[in-house]
Amino acid sequence: PPTVPVTLDVNGTSHTLNLDTRTSLLDALREHIKLTGTKKGCDQGQCGACTVLVDGKRINSCLTLAVMQQGKRIQTVEGLGTPDSLHPMQAAFVKHDGYQCGYCTPGQICSAVAVIAEIRAGIPSHVTPDLTAKPQLADAEIRERMSGNICRCGAYSNIVEAITEVAG
Ligand code: FES
Repeated sequence: PPTVPVTLDVNGTSHTLNLDTRTSLLDALREHIKLTGTKKGCDQGQCGACTVLVDGKRINSCLTLAVMQQGKRIQTVEGLGTPDSLHPMQAAFVKHDGYQCGYCTPGQICSAVAVIAEIRAGIPSHVTPDLTAKPQLADAEIRERMSGNICRCGAYSNIVEAITEVAG
């Protein structure tokens, strides 16, 4: 198929690729830029394993075309921290064992980073606030905000603990 030049800013590095215009951002990241931290679970927007940040907001990279993400700031799990200095959310997932097999973890962490930003920006969740039951509310709200990220090992309780710690 014909290809077009596509320039993507990923983790602060510019990559110009020749892509079939139908290439998803997920495939561009994994197959062309060789950043395999972002995972492909369902490839149809149901599992959240492919979550990345685009201009600070989370998206399912399997559901968007790479060509549409030019000129934006794309962050993957590889860009959140370094081996010597983990992002606070990465460190919290390690501390609280927020995973078992680890396949969903990059998407969970990218999503969780966006959740903190959403809470700080005052973007409401769909959980009705109940100020008399604050700890339970916090868990329910985090679970609701993270509901697009599936963990087949069922590490949800530890994921909630990790996010709660970073949320402060
Ligand atoms: Fe994109 Fe499952 S791989 S949502």
